Amino acid sequence: MLTAKEIRDSFKNFFESKEHHIVPSAPMVIKDDPTLMFTNAGMNQFKDIILGNRPAKYHRVADSQKCLRVSGKHNDLEEVGHDTYHHTMFEMLGNWSFGDYFKKEAISWAWEYLVEVLKLNPEHLYATVFEGSPEEGLSRDDEAASYWEQFLPKDHIINGNKHDNFWEMGDTGPCGPCSEIHIDLRPAEERAKISGRDLVNQDHPQVIEIWNLVFMQYNRKADSSLEPLPAKVIDTGMGFERLCMALQGKTSNYDTDVFQPIIKVIAAMAGTEYGKDKQNDIAMRVIADHIRTIAFSITDGQLPSNAKAGYVIRRILRRAVRYGYTFLGQKQAFMYKLLPVLIENMGEAYPELIAQKDLIEKVIKEEEEAFLRTLETGIRLLDKTMEETKAAGKSEISGKDAFTLYDTFGFPLDLTELILRENGMTVNIKEFDAEMQQQKQRARNAAAIETGDWITLKEGTTEFVATTILNMKLPFFVTARSNRKIKLYIRLYLITLHSMQKVVVR
Ligand code: SER
Repeated sequence: MLTAKEIRDSFKNFFESKEHHIVPSAPMVIKDDPTLMFTNAGMNQFKDIILGNRPAKYHRVADSQKCLRVSGKHNDLEEVGHDTYHHTMFEMLGNWSFGDYFKKEAISWAWEYLVEVLKLNPEHLYATVFEGSPEEGLSRDDEAASYWEQFLPKDHIINGNKHDNFWEMGDTGPCGPCSEIHIDLRPAEERAKISGRDLVNQDHPQVIEIWNLVFMQYNRKADSSLEPLPAKVIDTGMGFERLCMALQGKTSNYDTDVFQPIIKVIAAMAGTEYGKDKQNDIAMRVIADHIRTIAFSITDGQLPSNAKAGYVIRRILRRAVRYGYTFLGQKQAFMYKLLPVLIENMGEAYPELIAQKDLIEKVIKEEEEAFLRTLETGIRLLDKTMEETKAAGKSEISGKDAFTLYDTFGFPLDLTELILRENGMTVNIKEFDAEMQQQKQRARNAAAIETGDWITLKEGTTEFVATTILNMKLPFFVTARSNRKIKLYIRLYLITLHSMQKVVVR
């Protein structure tokens, strides 16, 4: 059985043999693209090349890319941990052609790699092709279908709509029709009862998409029109964790050697075993998934904070801490203790983890401790609110209560919603938003400086609390570019102070 590491290496070797240049993963955190906070696809780092704004140094490249999908077009956070194949952070194996080969080679190499190199059973594979979209003036992708027909019987080639078979990076940016390869991992007796064809794109946990081949031909403009790209581009992305599941004969990504070592450490800490209790298993999956996201984000320069990308990371960390607290009895900081096993597994492929181990551990531990200080009181308050709401014959708590939990106890709204969902309840979002607006207005009135992040400076036993300079409005004569530069230097300075134990980021 191939290990995760061998699978990752074999992909790169295969495309190297097809004259691709192997490039390193770009950071998972994006600092210079206003349309994206995190890398959500392997193609992000090539966006400028695809749009023709920058020449390609190599016309064929391949890599394994750290990606994060939690918000925006590809939002999966709620599912993560509850099912067996969604993740926040995942690795995407990809190959690209910038104005070089196109559909024919992309399809035949994908087939060669899966069937001839990895020996996946071709009878379990299906390919989807874009059925066309009259309102966009786009016709069916007959060309891709004709190449698939060389490898697959016609009943394994399925038409797909714009939602599934027209890939777009976001609301704007490069896009084009795509062909997805799906695999049916069900046992023979189930396959005999229902054809895999009927389960493609039906959210079946064992009939899943593993590889997406995008034939980039357009740029989606802000007015939503499509403009042809200067050159045709191949952009493929294969879900590494799913591929490992298929090759290692598992029915859950979390049962592969990508996650099992981490899960074993979590189970040992909680004095339990994975696979014994449904709710505990969810908690362990959530934590195993989230520790990767948090560690890699910090490595790539995104500390948890109260704003934008930093708040996404904070929410993810708090989600994991709450699962550990409620279901696995973790009343003290525990996530940071998972760093050694994470590094053992991923440090070789992503050496930045090793280089920044101390910083990552410190940031996570402090962030956990800060949240744990208010978590228990917050949970008690929420329990009381739920009881009172139920006693009043209602199932919706007020937005004001949710806002108190957010503002005073650090409960991100989605965490409150999650706990409410576990209890069959909801929250009045409109009220919550109104409270948030009012608070913002109060803050605007109070000062020109946003007080989103708090930095605690530690000098021996003395603690100084200061509002963060990162969110400070700089004077008008500072251009946007130098503004970004200044903030970058400040950020680097804070990270250095942090690693010297002089700064704590709450
Ligand atoms: N951009 C496509 C995706 O993310 C293929 O890489 O699925």
